[in-house]
Amino acid sequence: MKDHSGAAHIDYAMITKTLAALAEGETDEIALMATFICEVHHADDRFDWTGFYRVAEPERLKIGPYQGGHGCLVIPFDHGVCGAAARTGEVQLVDDVDAFPGHIACASSTRSEIVLPVWRKDGSLLGVLDIDSDQPAAFTSDDVVGLGALLTQVFAK
Ligand code: SME
Repeated sequence: MKDHSGAAHIDYAMITKTLAALAEGETDEIALMATFICEVHHADDRFDWTGFYRVAEPERLKIGPYQGGHGCLVIPFDHGVCGAAARTGEVQLVDDVDAFPGHIACASSTRSEIVLPVWRKDGSLLGVLDIDSDQPAAFTSDDVVGLGALLTQVFAK
């Protein structure tokens, strides 16, 4: 959907239905991540980089499917916003990335960021969903709730 300025803004109700249809019956996590990123990234003009980092080995994240400029390939749990989300299991809602200690800047244009842990049905940590925006304070609690519900629907049902 478009907001008053004509910018694309994610419609969580609609994308829930779209992803339910696209992901129906699929269990391959790479296929699900690639589809999730494609739909979410293009749904909102705030989203300048959208991607997954997977728990590829203990205490280390490795890049997964993403859209946007190149992202760093490996993030230890004790580094960056993504590491903080993986380490704590808590959503990281960062209004100003320059104010986040240890933020990893994959693009100098990034101003704000949201990172959510991604849980499997069995409660294990699949990885994190990372979305960067070139706009300051781009993300809200609506995105925490909406993205969290989408991740549960696709990866934990
Ligand atoms: N900003 C992230 C690193 C990933 S790049 O933004 C794609 C972090 O600080 O963990």
